[in-house]
Amino acid sequence: MIEKATGRSDWRVAVVLGSGLSDLAASLVAADPIPFSHIEGMPSSGVPGHAGALFAGDVGDTPTLIFAGRVHLYEGRDMTEVTYPVRAAIGAGCEVVVLTNAAGGIDPSLEVGAPCLISDHLNLTGRTPLFGPNDDSAGPRFLDLSDVYDKELRTLAKDLDRGLDEGVYAGLLGPTYETPAEVRMLRALGADLVGMSTVNEAIAARYLKTRVLGISVVSNLAAGLSPTPLSHEEVSAAGQKAAARLESLLRGILVKL
Ligand code: HPA
Repeated sequence: MIEKATGRSDWRVAVVLGSGLSDLAASLVAADPIPFSHIEGMPSSGVPGHAGALFAGDVGDTPTLIFAGRVHLYEGRDMTEVTYPVRAAIGAGCEVVVLTNAAGGIDPSLEVGAPCLISDHLNLTGRTPLFGPNDDSAGPRFLDLSDVYDKELRTLAKDLDRGLDEGVYAGLLGPTYETPAEVRMLRALGADLVGMSTVNEAIAARYLKTRVLGISVVSNLAAGLSPTPLSHEEVSAAGQKAAARLESLLRGILVKL
């Protein structure tokens, strides 16, 4: 499907851009966007800020698929749809998947509007892409998750951007933002960031033996940590604020892969 839509079969890296980050796709690769609706099987999202197009081209010498927009479980989408871009990219040859998202900052020392590496996650969506019968030829029934977010890739990112923060991402089902009590609970559980995506895509990629890098943009302080109510507009605006730093970080990583 990806090969057919792009006319190429040498893809090496996939990037999924989250809320408010879609504009980065055109800055990273000079390619005409392919609407998700033109790619067989690819689900498209109705959420503002999730444009729903694939930008396929080279960053440096690295053949890169950039998915601008994703679908979420909270839209009523099923796990097959949520993990489709990751699985399709891996099927097209990608060996590394970079998952980005907008997240609320639970650790109060995190800078709003800055990127933050994901060191590990708490999957609190109540779902997993590996639910159901297992095809043992595709991957293991009981998958080891001790190293979901690749250490070498994180080191590369930190070498490129010395001030980069790192934290544990709690993935929730959404679509509500959390209550202040839930945020206190997440902090006690060891979360630094909270959002509504990424964890199941990361699990699907690891199942398919693919390296994962996760990067959140801290779009707001999590509920109860700031005097103002949370809004999708605030989340999207933070993406734009973080764009320049995230773009140079992503470019730096992509050219080295
Ligand atoms: N909570 C959950 N998801 C989010 C948030 C948040 O505070 N900010 C951006 N996505």
